[in-house]
Amino acid sequence: MVALGFSTAVAILAALATGANAQTFRRTAACPKLGCVFPPDQADFIAGQTFDIRIEVQAPVNGSEAYNGGVPDPSFTFQLSHDGGDLVDVTKFFSVEDPAVDKYNFTYYEDLFAQDNKAPTPVNVLSKSFRNVQLHKPGQYKAVLSYNNGQKTEANWEVLEFCEAKAKNVIFFVGDGMATSMISAARLLAHKTVNGKYKSKLKLDEAPAYGAQMTHSLDSFITDSANSASALFTGKKMTVNGLNAYTDSTGKAFANAKVETIFEMYRRITGGQVGIVSKAYIADATPAAVVTHTSQRSQYTSIIEQYLVGITGNYSWYPWQGVDLLFGGGAENFLPGPGNGNISQFDRWAKAGYQVGYTKTQLNAFNNDDRALAIFTRGNISTWLDQNVYKKTLDLAVTPDGKAGAYDQPGLKDMTIKAIDILSQRAKKRGTGWSLMSEAALIDKEMHVQDVDRALGDLLELDDTVRATLEHLEKIGELDETLVVVTADHGHGFDVYGSADTKFLKEQNSDRKKRNAVGVYQNSGLSAYTVPQGVSPTVHDEYAGPQGEGFPVTWDPRYAIAHGWAAFPDKREDFAINVDHERVPATKNASGYFFNPTDNLDGFAMTGNLDVSEGQGVHSLVDVPIYAWGPGHELFRGVMGNVDIAFRVAEALGLGKDYNATKPYTK
Ligand SMILES: *[C@@H]1O[C@H](CO)[C@@H](O)[C@H](O)[C@H]1NC(C)=O
Ligand SMILES: *[C@@H]1O[C@H](CO)[C@@H](O)[C@H](O)[C@H]1NC(C)=O
Ligand SMILES: *[C@@H]1O[C@H](CO)[C@@H](O)[C@H](O)[C@H]1NC(C)=O
Ligand SMILES: *[C@@H]1O[C@H](CO)[C@@H](O)[C@H](O)[C@H]1NC(C)=O
Ligand SMILES: *[C@@H]1O[C@H](CO)[C@@H](O)[C@H](O)[C@H]1NC(C)=O
Ligand SMILES: *[C@@H]1O[C@H](CO)[C@@H](O)[C@H](O)[C@H]1NC(C)=O
Ligand SMILES: *[C@@H]1O[C@H](CO)[C@@H](O)[C@H](O)[C@H]1NC(C)=O
Ligand SMILES: [Zn+2]
Repeated sequence: MVALGFSTAVAILAALATGANAQTFRRTAACPKLGCVFPPDQADFIAGQTFDIRIEVQAPVNGSEAYNGGVPDPSFTFQLSHDGGDLVDVTKFFSVEDPAVDKYNFTYYEDLFAQDNKAPTPVNVLSKSFRNVQLHKPGQYKAVLSYNNGQKTEANWEVLEFCEAKAKNVIFFVGDGMATSMISAARLLAHKTVNGKYKSKLKLDEAPAYGAQMTHSLDSFITDSANSASALFTGKKMTVNGLNAYTDSTGKAFANAKVETIFEMYRRITGGQVGIVSKAYIADATPAAVVTHTSQRSQYTSIIEQYLVGITGNYSWYPWQGVDLLFGGGAENFLPGPGNGNISQFDRWAKAGYQVGYTKTQLNAFNNDDRALAIFTRGNISTWLDQNVYKKTLDLAVTPDGKAGAYDQPGLKDMTIKAIDILSQRAKKRGTGWSLMSEAALIDKEMHVQDVDRALGDLLELDDTVRATLEHLEKIGELDETLVVVTADHGHGFDVYGSADTKFLKEQNSDRKKRNAVGVYQNSGLSAYTVPQGVSPTVHDEYAGPQGEGFPVTWDPRYAIAHGWAAFPDKREDFAINVDHERVPATKNASGYFFNPTDNLDGFAMTGNLDVSEGQGVHSLVDVPIYAWGPGHELFRGVMGNVDIAFRVAEALGLGKDYNATKPYTK
């Protein structure tokens, strides 16, 4: 491509990219033709939502889509129209300058045969980005890219206006990986039935609004936590690994077309507070999707930086003045080291005026006036079960400064209630509202490793946190002005199908005999988690276990739930709790993952159904639930797409108005 002077060589994008004829590998996600428009067809916008547009014109050198010897046509045009009006050139439509054309190439494999034959397809590209644009008027928009001798790629967008705010504040809870089947299982563990009728229920069961969301991503029907959280928080479908930024063909992390999240809009438009709480390492995808932008969720250093100073790179839209609070795990991404440019983010945040803490004691001692950063562990925070029942495991949990024995960690409830106190007090002083994303992150992490008890413990902790949150909001007089949404980002294929006599199972010496321990239908019996050992499930009185109402009396009953999975690696099941450590179902050798030789040796073998390169369970297609309380809760009823949730939150907060930043934020 000498004539065009291509200058950038780009690495292979093998695993990402949907060719017209290729399912497994895509030339470029969300770009079925040789002309790409980001945001792609079917993207809808909140009126005034800021975003970047990127167009690409591609010409494969060879393969089934080869075009013009690999030379893309430089005379492409990009036009837009509103509500059936005339198509107008993009520069006139948005009153922006025509940016320079970027030229580069990349290669990809069309399919598994091409990969085996090591026959990649090189593709030359011309691209342009239009940054920091907004659509104010509601209605239907059409964007048309004309390229390569008369081909066209169209994107149809809708802009929705929401003018009237119903709610002043919002709390958005995410139960990561939480499918309805897990909620049913958690209820069975923690709540007692008498003759088939529940005598108490989950807080989630009492929500005045209940719905379901479809989680498909932009380019695949199974989603990950980055693109699903981006959908929930921006109202845009994204590609795998994308955080509020469309994966383009450059393979680069930061120049991608970005979309503003509802939390960023809330800050920009109302000057409101923004807080983030998670039990994962805080650079993980769900917390990151609240306010950061990159096509690669693994850019942890940048994600921590973006929380504080805003978008990485030369493409910022407006000054982001930092999140108001950040509570979670993951000190490893804050410590000085080559990956972090040798600086301590803890020092940096302290200099920027944040209170910084490393323990639950310090969290509780924070004043409620100043911004706050609290990171409690090296990696993820310990599960509820480890913190509350099998505490010996905390000997192994690692503190932020690298010592074994992280005993002074908060739970989701501690972090969430403190976050509300800080955000609410700061908001009051500034005459604004506040917003909080709180993630029960370990439900997903524990489901991946098939550690059902730890996952359900964290699910019950989420339920307990929602209960405590609603009570706390009432106490501080903000219940009537706060929308509370609880949902998930995706599910896992999991369900309970009976009970297992763990004592009998252990004592048998053949796998087939061990399977006799599972009782189905009438032999499943009643939940043995809600009664003390030795007491008949049908006669005992109300009984709260050591962790109180809403949690099981025992986690280690003889008759445990028997559970099955849509996706799992080779593993052994004994259905009994793993007291000493989190489960590791499969370990790897040169031919892939096999039964872990130290996991559940008294269990029976279940041959995995996943690619042998997967050592953990994977996400599944199932719809996930949505619960809502407070002003605007009625918007969350029925079946909706994950993207609709962002629009409904925006509607409840009145974010979709033809706004020009009306209320400046003050630190
Ligand atoms: C891709 O770009 C590199 C660097 O400019 C160039 O050497 C190479 O020939 C290009 N590849 C194709 C297929 O045009
Ligand atoms: C395309 O051409 C390159 C050489 O430029 C070659 O290495 C590759 O195998 C070809 N790919 C296909 C799919 O034919
Ligand atoms: C921003 O621009 C500078 C100067 O052109 C460049 O060195 C830097 O790499 C750019 N940053 C990013 C993230 O693209
Ligand atoms: C970080 O420190 C290491 C070791 O002292 C040094 O080799 C590296 O160049 C430093 N990196 C930066 C970005 O300063
Ligand atoms: C968090 O937990 C997940 C699942 O156990 C694990 O893969 C990941 O490495 C952990 N992250 C950190 C930073 O410890
Ligand atoms: C890996 O482990 C499995 C189970 O122990 C064994 O059957 C297999 O031969 C091992 N493969 C290699 C390459 O070591
Ligand atoms: C916002 O700004 C745009 C462009 O500057 C202007 O056309 C529009 O009328 C303004 N809207 C409001 C509500 O001030
Ligand atoms: Zn997951």
